[in-house]
Amino acid sequence: MINRIKNICCSIDGCKVSFVPHPEQRLLDLLRQEKGITGVREGCGEGECGSCSVLLNNRLVNACCVPVLHVHGCSITTIEGFSKTAAFHIIADAFARAGAVQCGFCTPGFILATAALLRENQQPTDEEIRAGLSGNLCRCTGYTQIIHAVQAAAGTLSSVPEVWKETDTHPPTNISPHPLVPRTVDDSIALLQAGYTPVAGGTDLIIRQHAGRPVSANGNLFSCMHIAELQTIYRKEGRTYVGSAMPLADIIASPDCTPILREALSCIAAPGIRNIATLGGNVCNASPAADGLPVLYILNAMVHVVGPSGQRDIPLAKYIQGPGTTLLDPTEIVTCISYEEPDTVQRNSNWMFRKVGARAVNALAKVNCAALWEVDTEMVTDFRLAIGACAPTVIRSHDIEQSVIGTRLVDLPTSVDHWLGLYSELLSPLTDQRSTAEYRLHTALALIRIVFVAMG
Ligand SMILES: Cc1cc2nc3c(=O)[nH]c(=O)nc-3n(C[C@H](O)[C@H](O)[C@H](O)COP(=O)(O)OP(=O)(O)OC[C@H]3O[C@@H](n4cnc5c(N)ncnc54)[C@H](O)[C@@H]3O)c2cc1C
Ligand code: FES
Ligand code: FES
Repeated sequence: MINRIKNICCSIDGCKVSFVPHPEQRLLDLLRQEKGITGVREGCGEGECGSCSVLLNNRLVNACCVPVLHVHGCSITTIEGFSKTAAFHIIADAFARAGAVQCGFCTPGFILATAALLRENQQPTDEEIRAGLSGNLCRCTGYTQIIHAVQAAAGTLSSVPEVWKETDTHPPTNISPHPLVPRTVDDSIALLQAGYTPVAGGTDLIIRQHAGRPVSANGNLFSCMHIAELQTIYRKEGRTYVGSAMPLADIIASPDCTPILREALSCIAAPGIRNIATLGGNVCNASPAADGLPVLYILNAMVHVVGPSGQRDIPLAKYIQGPGTTLLDPTEIVTCISYEEPDTVQRNSNWMFRKVGARAVNALAKVNCAALWEVDTEMVTDFRLAIGACAPTVIRSHDIEQSVIGTRLVDLPTSVDHWLGLYSELLSPLTDQRSTAEYRLHTALALIRIVFVAMG
């Protein structure tokens, strides 16, 4: 029998806190309803507006996506704790002077996003400011004043870097392990056998549970974010292995991440989501629109899973059976995803990842496409292409690829329409709230044409 009543321990705004977790509970609800920290706002409740931003171990996250189980042994900084620092006063003053505040609903989130950005990057470019704040929405001020405010705050803060020392947070020490926050894969398998469901970043699962579309019918969740062996990335014998519970931001920052995967993962959501969402979650969701998948398909990715009967290594294209359906048994956990690195990817040339969405951030793909190719002086020697969001699973055709390989470069332009015809027969896009089927098909074929043009 698993003791769910055991307390979670963390620090909130510098104070050690201990509470009985409801496993499906969001950090946002703990902070607002149980701790009365109403400076953490609820806007969308879906990870899209940033009004619930807090710092978890000094990293920006959206509290509406974070399951409380994750915070065991962590430090949380809310706007109320941050408001006691000199850095807050410099940023808040810059916002006031720049006219970057009207109703103020979004402002705590923007201030914490600014703090997270400037702590890491004291002289950000305008582009870096836009990227750092891209997960925060303001419905009244407009963004020009906000960007001016961040520029001004950066200018002041860069002359007094010592103020950041005061914002260092200290997770509680000497805390005992929590049964729903396992530290080893073996412990997680025991939980799976007892009917528990793993939650990684929670950016899909927690939102669905909260919206009444539960992933776990019994609500029995455990956090897999504290298992060190699921948080590594390394290369071995021509393959790269990415731990299933490594946050996307850490994968992107790793020199071991291949550039085409870095490009695709950088297109996912915004910093607050990427700081906690994982590649394991992206793969296990089995969404045909997931941005990690087309790249992993063309890199011949394998999904490595462990369960009571041992380890299985499953090609990704087999692992994903359909939308939301995989070969994973409920008693198994994905430990890592591995992929090969063809020469073209190692050289960081001859690859492309494109995503078309309603806006640049926090929008699932209407269509996405990954491709890589190799050409010598005369002909195509390697070609791989995968299209997402245009069929129940990502589409990759080895037959078409084989017919492209061996084509002389001079013959490429005359063959393109033939190949586009073959691809269009494989695509069966749907019309949904994000796009029409016609738009998806047209866009997918346009992206494939761009790849062929780049090859020639
Ligand atoms: C605002 C917003 C924007 C988004 N934008 C994008 C986007 O642009 N592109 C995109 O692809 N996705 C996007 N997403 C979806 C989501 O963030 C990603 O799919 C993310 O990678 C999911 O990872 P996670 O760790 O949060 O998964 P979780 O929500 O923790 O888990 C998802 C599923 O995987 C299972 N699971 C997780 N890890 C394991 C494991 N190790 N073993 C077995 N099962 C496991 C869970 O049980 C659950 O069923 C967005 C989400 C939000 C909220
Ligand atoms: S409430 Fe909108 S991101 Fe959390
Ligand atoms: S100031 Fe009103 S939402 Fe931003």
